[in-house]
Amino acid sequence: MPSNLTVIVLAAGGGTRMKSKTMKVLHPVAGRSMIAHVLAAVQATEPRRVVAVVGHQREQVGAHIQALLPDILLAVQEEQCGTGDAVRVAVEALVASTSGPVEGTVVVAYGDTPLLEGDSLRAFVAEHEAAERAVSILSGELANPFGYGRVVRDDDGDVVAIVEEKDATVDQREIHEINSGILAFEAGFLADALPRIGNDNAKGEYYLTDTVQIARDAGLTVGAWVIDDVMQTEGANDRVQLADLGRELNRRIVTRWMRDGVTVMDPATTWIDADVVLAPDVTILPGTQLLGATVVGEDAVIGPDTTLKDCEIGVGARMVRTHGELAVIGDAANVGPYSYLRPGTRLGVGGKIGGFVETKNADIGDGAKVPHLSYVGDAEIGQGTNIGAGTIFANYDGVAKHRTRIGRHAKTASNNTFVAPVEVGDGAGTGAGTVVRRDVPPGALAVSSGPQRNLVGWTVRRRPGTAQAEAAEAALAESDPVDDGSDDQ
Ligand code: UD1
Ligand code: CA
Repeated sequence: MPSNLTVIVLAAGGGTRMKSKTMKVLHPVAGRSMIAHVLAAVQATEPRRVVAVVGHQREQVGAHIQALLPDILLAVQEEQCGTGDAVRVAVEALVASTSGPVEGTVVVAYGDTPLLEGDSLRAFVAEHEAAERAVSILSGELANPFGYGRVVRDDDGDVVAIVEEKDATVDQREIHEINSGILAFEAGFLADALPRIGNDNAKGEYYLTDTVQIARDAGLTVGAWVIDDVMQTEGANDRVQLADLGRELNRRIVTRWMRDGVTVMDPATTWIDADVVLAPDVTILPGTQLLGATVVGEDAVIGPDTTLKDCEIGVGARMVRTHGELAVIGDAANVGPYSYLRPGTRLGVGGKIGGFVETKNADIGDGAKVPHLSYVGDAEIGQGTNIGAGTIFANYDGVAKHRTRIGRHAKTASNNTFVAPVEVGDGAGTGAGTVVRRDVPPGALAVSSGPQRNLVGWTVRRRPGTAQAEAAEAALAESDPVDDGSDDQ
């Protein structure tokens, strides 16, 4: 049976306590905006329609939401005068878009609850529909319920109302069962109830929660479904709560990966974004962040102190103290320590990018190695080739970027500069300190540094009285006078 569920996500509030130019629901947690987490949970309920109510910075928020869920309906609430008004705006937009009444079940959720899980929302909707209620509250028990709407029950334990903190009596403030904010409605009842919500309360707002009382007065069934894991419904109002929820979500993500067979040596210093995918037997060492859409293959060891964003790491690869973004690392490859992988880096099977090496738009072949102190930009390095220590791929001529191509099984020596565009053939080589400006044919050895000249006695003549000169004089006094090392005969 096709779902007849409509979900309304409220995201019109300003989120002033964030003190940010970025709207609250757009702040990221575990690599996604808060509202993206909510929409992912909403999608898991397979709703027929999803409506988001936007207000503050509606262009920015609306564009973000539509990029995540293209067929979402946006409803604009001009003035934030309460959750009841926000839902009224959403229902009006729905009616206008379908030119008919809303039917089935309507769920209202908030856009700032990043820990919300699809399974919980699904279970809540199923229970609401099975109980055939007019209104269901997703409630929870909180040790400190301050600020929340309280779920008021009668002597039989039946729900009679939700009372907001500011409107609650002293006795009602003692209630620890709170309204999470997530409510489910029978659509027909909701349509009847919305125009009857008033704003005669402490905040002068239209409270959606008044629908509970309205249903009771009409003799309809209301009830609450108590969630054990209240944090799933918690919102972040300021940056302190944002960090708390972020840490908790990370703890949950890291725990899930450990249960799925990933070794995490120090969960407290390991950060894994929601969209990261790890294979079994991956090992993560302390101080590691795996961000964005990073994917790590079986038996890979990542860390310590490594940050990888949107990277693909092969089976059995080793990444030590590395910072990488949009890089693809082959199986059994070795990277680090202190390597900087910029977008477009590809390293082949068993390849190596070593210490203090920066790479960008660089395709480094299977078994190829760039072991020490180098910059490799806009380059292709063939299979089995070894690049000497301290090599610079000079890709920029001051106007445009150019590529360097080095063939298979080439051996280039230390302190080389490849001035792009330039090509080095298969099996070619270079001498130390070579500046390669012209193409090198396959199998050739390119040498560009001039022959060495020794100017004998230069220090003593030109730097008399210095420690350098004294050291030179002392050494010369002890050495064989016949061979003075001179080139000048
Ligand atoms: C609301 C509930 C309270 C519940 C609490 C849970 C009401 C009257 N109260 O209180 O029972 O315990 O949430 O967090 O519903 N919003 C709009 N437009 C508006 C007003 C709010 O879109 O005009 C959005 C906000 O952006 C926010 C959410 O609705 O995401 C909740 O609004 P807020 O004003 O924070 O409600 P609370 O006072 O916290
Ligand atoms: Ca050339």
